[in-house]
Amino acid sequence: MIITIDGAVGTGKSSVAKALARDLGFIYVDTGAMYRCITYAILKHHIDINDSAALTEFLKNFQYSVKIKLGERFYFVENEDVTLKIRSAEITNAVSKISALPAVRENLVALQRRAAVGVNGIFEGRDMGTVVFPDAQLKIFLTGSPEVRAARRFKELREKFPEDTENLTVEEVLKDINARDDSDSTRAISPLKQASDCCVVDTSNLTIDDVVLKILEFKDTIRARQATSH
Ligand code: DC
Repeated sequence: MIITIDGAVGTGKSSVAKALARDLGFIYVDTGAMYRCITYAILKHHIDINDSAALTEFLKNFQYSVKIKLGERFYFVENEDVTLKIRSAEITNAVSKISALPAVRENLVALQRRAAVGVNGIFEGRDMGTVVFPDAQLKIFLTGSPEVRAARRFKELREKFPEDTENLTVEEVLKDINARDDSDSTRAISPLKQASDCCVVDTSNLTIDDVVLKILEFKDTIRARQATSH
């Protein structure tokens, strides 16, 4: 069974997907981290994204892997542990532009589909239910007010990067969230949008556990519907 979870920044996607995967014993794939890893490698190798031959050559050789230690995920690019680096402001600022490149998306979508073969999985991102897994059995779309999402993201950044974020304000994070919402949902290919057959959950006033429970309810309903239709 494939469950997709899509939604904007700060809707709780990653925490929900992780908790759900643990509850169900499913694998969990954070596709945003994949876009962040590729962005890291493009910046590291100074690839000119307007040079299509150079980009194609780079994508052919791009190596990325995930290792799980004690339930935590560690991301590697060419054997370098980039787990923390891919969450930095430099990568966050560059990833929207790089994830909008058709060649980059084609490469990662192929990897995502390969990861889904023969497994029960939860795939989290922006276009999981619309483009990558249009036939997924359960599609979740998380929403939330920009203010609540900015407050969550601010807390997360302060905890992860206490020194770099000493002067950061919630207002700045809110501005960044609005800008990213805009670019993620208006880009030409695979914009962030709800699949016609998705279940929408507004997470503004819900805890992670509340959201997980709702998704488990949707899953049971779908199972019951399938059982009665056979
Ligand atoms: O979820 P995140 O903030 O880690 O995602 C990082 C970026 O990658 C974000 O700008 C949107 C983009 N992304 C995407 O275009 N498609 C996905 N399936 C996942 C993320």
